[in-house]
Amino acid sequence: MSATEELIYNKHIFICTNQRVAGASRKSCGEAHGLEIIDAFRKKLKEKNLPIRIRVQKAGCLDICDFGQTIVIYPEGIFYVGVKIDDVDEIIEEHIINDRFVERLRFRKK
Ligand code: FES
Repeated sequence: MSATEELIYNKHIFICTNQRVAGASRKSCGEAHGLEIIDAFRKKLKEKNLPIRIRVQKAGCLDICDFGQTIVIYPEGIFYVGVKIDDVDEIIEEHIINDRFVERLRFRKK
């Protein structure tokens, strides 16, 4: 059995929904639109009915909070930041279906 066949999910999408208390010094993804992003991924992936195993789930803080809504997709371990509802289609089409990273949203350490 290959490493890919052993994966429970071919793509595992974690979406930060952390929400800090009002007045906190750092922003958090939950205040932005974390839950709406989850709903958008789930709805669009269901519509596509792709022949691979995909899981979309909530995550706590992914610790790169200063760049806007953060998600990470495994097994590649690619972080995307500043993700908006309008970006969901592109992430699904490029990363999930075509295995190409969405470079304009990709987080890179400086
Ligand atoms: S609050 Fe979302 S990455 Fe920290």
